[in-house]
Amino acid sequence: METTLYSLDEVSKNDGKGGNRVWIIIKDAVYDVTDFIDEHPGGGDLIQEWAGKDGTKDFDDAGHSGDAKKDLKKYKIGELREEDRKQKQAKAGAKTENPELQNRSFCSVISCGLFG
Ligand code: HEM
Repeated sequence: METTLYSLDEVSKNDGKGGNRVWIIIKDAVYDVTDFIDEHPGGGDLIQEWAGKDGTKDFDDAGHSGDAKKDLKKYKIGELREEDRKQKQAKAGAKTENPELQNRSFCSVISCGLFG
């Protein structure tokens, strides 16, 4: 299944204000928690505070249980675009999204083609 990618800008529009939906980013994934706000055991305000923003730190700091994390999955609507992610570290080096690396693989395609 394809993952929908959102920009930070799009997420920030879903800030719960004036009837907007409530989206929250946790670890680069985007959740629409509008229908969960009233059910939140920690109160709706704690989530609302992070509406349209990255609430990873506060979500983690609250020490949520495994059940809470499972709950969260139900609300996932997509992920942040690569360029808007905070946690690029590990992935960035490994992928060949950088044009320099792409050029390099172009060269190896040539050598494979000629000599392979
Ligand atoms: C940054 C946003 C959030 C903050 C700051 C936050 C904070 C908290 C806090 C302080 C509690 C403890 C309440 C108490 O014991 O009285 C709590 C409980 C809980 N929260 Fe959140 N929460 C956030 C987002 C969410 C989201 C998005 C979900 C799931 C969709 C969620 C699910 C739960 C659940 C199930 C509990 C009950 C205790 C547990 O199972 O860990 N929370 N939250």
